[in-house]
Amino acid sequence: MVIGQQATYAIFKIGAILVPLNPGFNAPQVVAALAHLQASHLIIGAETHLPRKQPRENITLLRHILLDLQATNVQSVVVPSLRQIVLVDNSDGRVDVSKVRSVSLYDDVLHSSNTIRPFSAPGLAPHDIINIQFTSGTTSLPKAACLSHRSILNNGASIGDRMLLTEKDIICCPPPLFHCFGCILGYMATATHGSSIVFPSEAFDPVAVLKSVQKEKCTALYGVPTMFLAELELLQNGTVPYEGFQYLRTGIAAGSSIPAELMRKLHKVLNLTELTICYGMTETSPVSCMTTIDDPLDKRIDSVGRLLPHVEAKVVDPSIRSQVLPVGQRGELAVSGYLVMKEYYGAAEQTAEVLAADGDGKLWMHTGDEAEMDQEGYVKITGRIKDIIIRGGENVHPLEVENCLLAHSKIREVSVIGLPDERYGEVVAAFIIKQVGVLITEQEVREWVKERLSNHLIPKYIFWTDNYPKTASGKIQKFKLKEEGMGFLQAGRRIQEQVI
Ligand SMILES: *[C@@H]1O[C@H](CO)[C@@H](O)[C@H](O)[C@H]1NC(C)=O
Ligand SMILES: *[C@@H]1O[C@H](CO)[C@@H](O)[C@H](O)[C@H]1NC(C)=O
Ligand SMILES: *[C@@H]1O[C@H](CO)[C@@H](O)[C@H](O)[C@H]1NC(C)=O
Repeated sequence: MVIGQQATYAIFKIGAILVPLNPGFNAPQVVAALAHLQASHLIIGAETHLPRKQPRENITLLRHILLDLQATNVQSVVVPSLRQIVLVDNSDGRVDVSKVRSVSLYDDVLHSSNTIRPFSAPGLAPHDIINIQFTSGTTSLPKAACLSHRSILNNGASIGDRMLLTEKDIICCPPPLFHCFGCILGYMATATHGSSIVFPSEAFDPVAVLKSVQKEKCTALYGVPTMFLAELELLQNGTVPYEGFQYLRTGIAAGSSIPAELMRKLHKVLNLTELTICYGMTETSPVSCMTTIDDPLDKRIDSVGRLLPHVEAKVVDPSIRSQVLPVGQRGELAVSGYLVMKEYYGAAEQTAEVLAADGDGKLWMHTGDEAEMDQEGYVKITGRIKDIIIRGGENVHPLEVENCLLAHSKIREVSVIGLPDERYGEVVAAFIIKQVGVLITEQEVREWVKERLSNHLIPKYIFWTDNYPKTASGKIQKFKLKEEGMGFLQAGRRIQEQVI
């Protein structure tokens, strides 16, 4: 973690471009990323640590990149641009790093007299690209968004302002650093306000999170809903003693909407009464909307707050982008301002699909999110445009069905997608994780929805599952669920009601 921090600021300062890689990437994905960006240096751990998994050594990965690990210099056919590999030994002796002669060890680089040279400011400019961030890949393969000094630093400053951070604040940051949540909401928001930041563990571990909050007397806690749920569970069942949380006041929940019940628990159990909600995407550095610490509770549950300063947004007709929709009407959210990425690296066509200039030449990022804005400027995200299910000509919003099902006490998590149907074109399918040790039938699920929502929202297909394909930042990858669902349909099999 300390190394991540050292390296991040050092790279920013010399004007090199930082590209944090997802530790969940496999060897071909890492090679593809390095080759696509023509990377010159790779800093890599001897091991990858992922949540709930044994450490995985990374030397095998290096074999995919280098011709000869024993050679005295770096030679790579698959990534010809690569000049140096720096290995961080995070393996506690499990990996023998001395065998890999072609890499430099981080400690050696840090302490070698060769590398300590006088430093001259390289003439950086605000619009220089400083951070290339792979998108989370919730809807498609990751793309490389190019962000500038100006965009990430100002975004971090605005985020910190909304939480009223000061040098007295200590932020506990469990979200990973390869993603904007850790890198910008974490580093940039704290660095601009002189606050401290605490990283509990390399990969998410709820026990480590709670212990860090207690030990460091944290005043803020970051997370996505699944992280908060895991932490609350450990307090509830006594794994971690319920004490030492009185310093907490604020924090950020992001990634998906916060169910009302969870919000109430976070206020009551963790004293996070000033918890804020952030909405954004990698392409907007990342946050465009955020609640304040004292927005009315319903706004903090139902909306993602209002725009950050110096950010503009409009809701447009997804099929006619020049048509701005009136207040209160749902459409595609488009965002403009300093925070919009420059481009997807080396992908002009994909860039042109999402970045479009209006009649005045102003660039807008078309988020692909469906949203509506109210009179007071609060923005409500109602789903992904692509995720909207069109059943017999009617729009079904997965979020509406998901929220309804989440309110059922026997349901722990749910994700709703559309599956093809001969009669209706598309129908509702729900992937459900039930609470541990309870019985629930498909019929109960359908009755529950039927009593609360209109008939066309009742899931035709119900799949019981115990996990979802997720991005490393914890977002459900619906396109993968859809593939899974289609697979089930094609194979003509259905996961039958399971009775525990
Ligand atoms: C190991 O390699 C992966 C790439 O597969 C990288 O993302 C990860 O950060 C490395 N592990 C550590 C602990 O740095
Ligand atoms: C508490 O919950 C966690 C997470 O589900 C579980 O691993 C742990 O064993 C539970 N502990 C007790 C005492 O029930
Ligand atoms: C909650 O936090 C406030 C500061 O925001 C503090 O004054 C109060 O004592 C805390 N309450 C509890 C129950 O820990």
